[in-house]
Amino acid sequence: MEVLYLEHLEIKGFRNYRQGSVSLGPGVSIIVGRNGAGKTSLLEAAQYSICGKSFRTSRDAEMVREGSGFLRVSAAIETGGVKRSRLVSLQPGQPATVDQGGGPRWEQAGSVLCFSPDDLQLVKGAPAERRRFVDEAVSRRRPAYQKLAGDYQKVLSQRNRFLQRARAGIVRLADISPWDRQLMSLAFQIHDEREEYCRTLSPAFAEAYDRISGGSGSAEAVYRSQLQAHAGEEDREAAAVRELEQQWGGDLERGATSIGTHRDDIEFRVGGKNMRVFGSQGEQRSTVLALLLAEAVTESPGGERPLLLLDDVLSELDPDRRGRLLGALGNGFRSQVIITAADYNLIPVGGCEAAVVLEIGQDGLIRAAEAGDV
Ligand SMILES: Nc1ncnc2c1ncn2[C@@H]1O[C@H](COP(=O)(O)OP(=O)(O)OP(=O)(O)O)[C@@H](O)[C@H]1O
Ligand SMILES: [Mg+2]
Repeated sequence: MEVLYLEHLEIKGFRNYRQGSVSLGPGVSIIVGRNGAGKTSLLEAAQYSICGKSFRTSRDAEMVREGSGFLRVSAAIETGGVKRSRLVSLQPGQPATVDQGGGPRWEQAGSVLCFSPDDLQLVKGAPAERRRFVDEAVSRRRPAYQKLAGDYQKVLSQRNRFLQRARAGIVRLADISPWDRQLMSLAFQIHDEREEYCRTLSPAFAEAYDRISGGSGSAEAVYRSQLQAHAGEEDREAAAVRELEQQWGGDLERGATSIGTHRDDIEFRVGGKNMRVFGSQGEQRSTVLALLLAEAVTESPGGERPLLLLDDVLSELDPDRRGRLLGALGNGFRSQVIITAADYNLIPVGGCEAAVVLEIGQDGLIRAAEAGDV
């Protein structure tokens, strides 16, 4: 798999940057700056230059510096020994223009993996957050999955609308069967993809979690789906359709479908404990980081080793975990990693051997930290 390497980034009129630039090495870079210095903004610019989207906002215009009429982000990127440049410009109210230097389209959401403190919701939040993580990962590997997931959502809302019309006496409940069959047929396809992904992810997650935590327990990512109840049956689709039929009464009352992959969840367990319920802050943070590391190393056919952007990840980890995280990212990890930190004290002793430490200056230039700072 090719490694995506962001060599250089120049930004203009982006968030607090009138002008900024940074050159990065292929390994781990730690960017240090006080609160409000522009650390998160720099990661955002890196992601925006590669995938044309921000992990912080869906309104691109927010990124344009106040008082500036436009933003420009230019990036020098190398993949598989081929250097490419890319220039993204944006004026509020207009679509972004992208100049890829004549190269082929290559940006993919999968080229960059981000962690920001909000991503703790992946562990702490509702099942939908975990389904989204898995669905995005599966889509990166199999673009056709996106259509499958879209089709499922469509049939699900059609079935729900049918239930509501049946409740209003407009249609007969017994005529819902075609929706049941379509829904279960799509559901099993989704189930199989999600199950396979979790099965592949789980050992990599366990390894990453052990590396970060020092091997305090066996971690696993366990896929939970109502459809698993029919796994051993000869015609599992027919069995699931029968189960759905038994729920018609309840579904009619609620105007919603009670069985399907829209109810799936993924349990992240460490030493038998469900991290959503029993994980401490640091354990939950370690879980998300381990998932990201696992997703980065899990083979995606034809894909790239993604760039990892880790915003403010060190602050809730104890010094041992901070050291081990940097060790895990620094030694033979292959992906390029950019980490931000508000304080030099968060960089573990010895961490500078595995990483290059950079500092955001007043002028927007990001350069090597002075030896005395670290
Ligand atoms: N569109 C914008 N125009 C001008 N300034 C902005 C814009 N959007 C955000 N800012 C400012 O940019 C500054 C840098 O924000 P950023 O989130 O990058 O800081 P940070 O270094 O990550 O800080 P922290 O350590 O608190 O996370 C903030 O003061 C913020 O208010
Ligand atoms: Mg920040």
